[in-house]
Amino acid sequence: MDIEPSKPQRPHWGSKFAFVLAAAGSAIGLGNIWKFPYVTGKYGGGAFVLVYLLTILLVGLPLMAAEIMVGKSTQLSPIPAFKKIKGERSRWRYVGVLTISAAFLILSYYSVVAGWTLHYLYLSVMGKFVGEGSERVSGYFSQLYANGSMNLFWHFIVMVLTTGIIWRGLKGGIEKSTKFLMPLLFVLLLVLLVNSLLSPGAAQGIRFLFYPDFSKLNATGILEAVGQGFFSLSLGMGAMMTYGSYLQKDVDVARPAIAVVGFDTLIALLAGLVIFPIVFSHGLEPASGPGLVFQTLPVVFSKMPGGYIVSILFFLLLFVAALTSAISLLEVGIAYVVDSKIVKRHTGSLVAGGVIFLLGIFPALSGGLLADVRVPVLGMNLFDSMDYLASNWLLPMGGLLIAAFCGWAFPDDIRHKEFSIKAPFWWSYRLWLFFLRFVTPVGLILVFLNKIGVI
Ligand code: TRP
Repeated sequence: MDIEPSKPQRPHWGSKFAFVLAAAGSAIGLGNIWKFPYVTGKYGGGAFVLVYLLTILLVGLPLMAAEIMVGKSTQLSPIPAFKKIKGERSRWRYVGVLTISAAFLILSYYSVVAGWTLHYLYLSVMGKFVGEGSERVSGYFSQLYANGSMNLFWHFIVMVLTTGIIWRGLKGGIEKSTKFLMPLLFVLLLVLLVNSLLSPGAAQGIRFLFYPDFSKLNATGILEAVGQGFFSLSLGMGAMMTYGSYLQKDVDVARPAIAVVGFDTLIALLAGLVIFPIVFSHGLEPASGPGLVFQTLPVVFSKMPGGYIVSILFFLLLFVAALTSAISLLEVGIAYVVDSKIVKRHTGSLVAGGVIFLLGIFPALSGGLLADVRVPVLGMNLFDSMDYLASNWLLPMGGLLIAAFCGWAFPDDIRHKEFSIKAPFWWSYRLWLFFLRFVTPVGLILVFLNKIGVI
């Protein structure tokens, strides 16, 4: 069985590097700069980093290659891709439905958090941190969280920007914006890094990130590393599949996959190296949970020399990282409606952007008007429930099903041919397939067993 060549009208990336930049833009996000440092803080620094690196290699990389391969070989977004390989009525199409729903759900609260970064950028520019007391500065976060209309306002701005980029299409929108935003992100990070490494807490920060304290690492921490790697690499919801579907057919899979995983990991580590030294320089605690970036860091900025500039650079960095991820989340749904000829890109972008804005009203009001609404069974508010459901269940579930699809259900001849184009080593196909079939699924199943409390 062979797959017919792509229809001439399907747009393609201008180059392989354009794909790598956009895919790295999807992967590098709040997960790297906001979440990675604080989970690392929670599970003992270096020990967690070590496990994280291992799971990225064992679980993340094989699945990254799998998603890219499925997208590239079918030249289609998730639902049509599953149908093309397995037939119109195949149950696999529901995996596509799952991934698109997950992308919508995630974007609706991810956009709210991206909005927080804009609000903090605004606070930085207005000089609201400089010379203020710690109480006041760390209090900004609870004020923002409780202020529904403020959340809605920033969420709206983020969705307008995201929708605008997607509206302009693959080349003029996604490729053009990521070509500008990703280098900007890197430069911002490097400037901040130099600043951190020159701060008095540098040695302590580096030691914290790289010195493994195994006493703080437990089974939950290890499984959290798998989950974090997954979220950080944007796996399990068809985003990489969708971006992969815009690759030319003759491009190889392994090298771009390695590049994207490598960039994502590098940026997470650099973010740790930016954050921990300055946290230690001011005698604060690294393990302060999700508030690390929005509460602890602003306090640090208020005290450090040059804090005004550093805070602007930092929140701009965070916003850029979030925006390039939001774009790819929206593209998953858009690619589906365009591929299935339901509507054209322009209409699709406006409708999908609008729907996600509306969905996002719930997480946006979770700290204010809807603060007392608790989701039954979970017992959490709407925002936390959406994050919990998506990151802990939908993504790993999507990942497991995609691994099963690509590892077991995919026709071997196409898989072999598609993967082996310019593969780095002749034996890499077998190695990849082994990991995809056995190691990745086992890792994910362990995560599930841990979630339901069996292990
Ligand atoms: N990887 C993103 C981050 O690190 C978040 C994310 C998870 C994501 N899944 C995604 C982004 C899918 C785009 C598409 O913040």
